[in-house]
Amino acid sequence: MCGIFGYIGTRSALPVLVEGLRRLEYRGYDSTGVAIHDGDQISVHKTVGKVQNLQSVLPSEVPGTMGIAHTRWATHGGVTFVNTHPHASHDGKIHLVHNGIIENFRSLHRRVKAHGIECVGETDSEVLVHLMGIELAGGATPQEAVERTLHLARGTWGLSILFLDHDVLICARNGSPLIIGQGDGEMFVSSDPHPLSAHTQRVVYMEDGDLAILTRDSMKMVTHKGHSIDPTVTVLEDSWSESDLGDSPHFMHKEIYEQPEALRHCIAGRVDREMGSGRLGGMRLGHSTMVQAPHVRLLGCGTANFAAEIGQMLIEKMARIPAVTHISSEFRNNDPVINPKAIYLAVSQSGETADTISAVKEIKLKGGQVFGVVNVVGSTIARLCGQGVYIHSGPEQSVASTKAFTNMVAALTIFATQLGRTRHLSKAKGREIIEHLQQAPHLMESYFENPGPIDEAVALLAEAKSVLFLGRGLSAPVAKEGALKLMELAYIPCLAYPAGEMKHGPIALLEEGSPVVIVAPNDHLKEKTLSALHECRARGAKIILIHEEGDTIASEGDVSIAVPRIHPWLTPLLTVVPLQLIAYSTALHLGKDVDRPRNLAKSVTVE
Ligand code: M6R
Repeated sequence: MCGIFGYIGTRSALPVLVEGLRRLEYRGYDSTGVAIHDGDQISVHKTVGKVQNLQSVLPSEVPGTMGIAHTRWATHGGVTFVNTHPHASHDGKIHLVHNGIIENFRSLHRRVKAHGIECVGETDSEVLVHLMGIELAGGATPQEAVERTLHLARGTWGLSILFLDHDVLICARNGSPLIIGQGDGEMFVSSDPHPLSAHTQRVVYMEDGDLAILTRDSMKMVTHKGHSIDPTVTVLEDSWSESDLGDSPHFMHKEIYEQPEALRHCIAGRVDREMGSGRLGGMRLGHSTMVQAPHVRLLGCGTANFAAEIGQMLIEKMARIPAVTHISSEFRNNDPVINPKAIYLAVSQSGETADTISAVKEIKLKGGQVFGVVNVVGSTIARLCGQGVYIHSGPEQSVASTKAFTNMVAALTIFATQLGRTRHLSKAKGREIIEHLQQAPHLMESYFENPGPIDEAVALLAEAKSVLFLGRGLSAPVAKEGALKLMELAYIPCLAYPAGEMKHGPIALLEEGSPVVIVAPNDHLKEKTLSALHECRARGAKIILIHEEGDTIASEGDVSIAVPRIHPWLTPLLTVVPLQLIAYSTALHLGKDVDRPRNLAKSVTVE
């Protein structure tokens, strides 16, 4: 949610900043801007729209070796030119980019006004730069100006700040991620690690309350209390550099087809086939914790929440202990009861989702033990939890999550076998699950060889007023995931229901020709799901049926798409793939921006 990139070095800043923005664009794309310092003056270029729009208004060359850049996802203030970052102080001596929300911006606004300064836009961010300007004009150093301003502010921020009269870049973090990249004679700052990988592997993850004062060859870090700290330099994993589009038409296409390989990464070295158990070292789960845990609670938003729902069912099946999934954004506000003996799992691709971060903090505050199930290494959730499992999908850049979903399901499956083996799961059953899980990447590849009549499904869906998605048991969250994908990419209203609930309300929506997508793998619930299918058909609905290869129910669909057979507990790993392809192809057919759907952002870093 909003992307920040900053540079101070010896190279021309403009191309470095624009490339950084391009790689961060998935965090928000309402408007973009850069500010570049050439030693004498700061020039600002900004525009409403995407990085591509910015490139079209930029001069071919902008002198300067230091600058800041921003891609915005609007919170306070409309999508307009004046609300586009960077924002400047009244005298033009400070320029700033901000990610986060300043909760008390109204009272800060009054304070700014009392100094005779008018804000030009409506953003909460602009008040910060004016307050810093007031401090600087009053004789404060840049560091003091930032510290005193942030002392007044309440809310969240990732900030990168340029000063006209000082050869320094100051960054501050509170609740919105910022990572410093250390080069040779140059420094970078970014909201995400992967734009940094093009320049350096040496990074420092800023913590909440930290301030970083960057020059070309030095980095000073202080806490919010002004204490100096020794930054911990981390070496970025190689996988973060492989985030280019390559030959693929879109990141979503690339990421869908990367799933078999991503899945292999997730599983490799983490299963004990002989013992029929998972082996998740990073979970640091003591035997007594696993044996004594009274229940498991899983948390996540959007796609991560649906993966968690599948994990919940697998944990109950394999470990026979109660498991419940919560929507993170609801969790903290409901004053949850936390059992210190229970196991809490925070599921997130980005590791930066504000709602999930809040939930993790609430659990920790009340003495609970929470484990991250996260993709981005070193992300806030991963570091807050300090224990857990990386799902190892590699960078996911399309706003619509695909390979992270299947890897979350795989990681939770491995966790369920590990927990299950300390309890009721037999060695033979554990082995059976692991053997099938190891075959899943290959089965996905074989599905890609023959993905079925996706175009026929698109033809049924593209003009629909709304689409109903149905599934039972493990397929209910898959139906929800399919509905979310189609809705966020093609902007078609979609409703997902457990198939048995359809007759309790959603059936009223059906009329002649209404498309219904039904996920019906060959499990013990298939016959019941088929009853829902017949009820839909009786009302004139057109059925898009996802089923397993060789199943005679294929004839029940107006469009039937077969996926390879797999163990009934692992079907979500395969049944979700055609739903991803359907959403992708429908959006393309309708001329939508597949990787950058409107109003959305990849990491939702505000509550
Ligand atoms: O980074 P996270 O996994 O925590 O993100 C959670 C959701 O914001 C995310 O899954 C969202 O629903 C996706 N756009 C779905 O495709």
